[in-house]
Amino acid sequence: MAMTITKLHDHVGAEIGGVDLSRPLDEATFAAIEEAFYQSSVLVVRRQDLPPERQIAFSQRFGPLEVHILDQYQLAGHPEILLLSNKTDADGKPLGLVEAGRYWHTDVSFTEVPSMGSFLYAVEIPPAGGDTLFASQFAAYDALPQDWKERLAGLKALHGLNKTTAPKFTDAQLASVKGVEHPLIRTHPKTGRKALYAGTFALRVLDVSEAESDEILAFLRDHWAQDDIVYRHRWQANDLVMWDNRSVLHCATLFDARFIRHMHRTTVAGEKPV
Ligand code: SIN
Repeated sequence: MAMTITKLHDHVGAEIGGVDLSRPLDEATFAAIEEAFYQSSVLVVRRQDLPPERQIAFSQRFGPLEVHILDQYQLAGHPEILLLSNKTDADGKPLGLVEAGRYWHTDVSFTEVPSMGSFLYAVEIPPAGGDTLFASQFAAYDALPQDWKERLAGLKALHGLNKTTAPKFTDAQLASVKGVEHPLIRTHPKTGRKALYAGTFALRVLDVSEAESDEILAFLRDHWAQDDIVYRHRWQANDLVMWDNRSVLHCATLFDARFIRHMHRTTVAGEKPV
């Protein structure tokens, strides 16, 4: 069957059909997927049978994988897979990160070299809720009024964690995360497009007064996920959704905790934002 690429939204997201990611892909097919990924920022591939080894092998074609700092939630035998899950073990201990990322963010922007791509595979999903929202930061940048484009150009923000954004981090894990500076506008290395680069981990705009930093962050919070630039992914079991952290913010949504939501996440290493 020929591969298809269908846009899901004017600004963000495409669905790939006619591929079986449980088998190795030829170079041409992979190159088409990679290009669609950079252009659309989010790719959805439904009805995939992806055991951990295959998810790892497919993700690795995009680059080296990262191992998340939350080592207590790694899948046994596969440290590259972070469990996002409300399942518990026999003693009632959570197997995975529960309530992960229920605020707009780009993955691990609190590190010097944040993740390039995140690949989330739905093993078990609740009957309703638990959707993931994606906001195009190419479109957020394009929609900025010209005076804001000029004001933000050259500014950097300090990205970091706190107990609100990282309640599951131990004190030692939190202490190991030092704040890092990243530009508020970054240029995507593959497409050359400018994207807004902020999100909830951006705590303070640098080289401006605290009042001005608060004003800029409040403006950005209102701007970075306007309805018209957001794609809402409604999960089905066996979906693989991958997103480019350099050009989208994402946000997980609530679901009824009586049901299980069990996901496997791999992350591909990125580069220092410029
Ligand atoms: C995340 O990676 O931030 C979580 C996304 C989700 O669980 O929907």
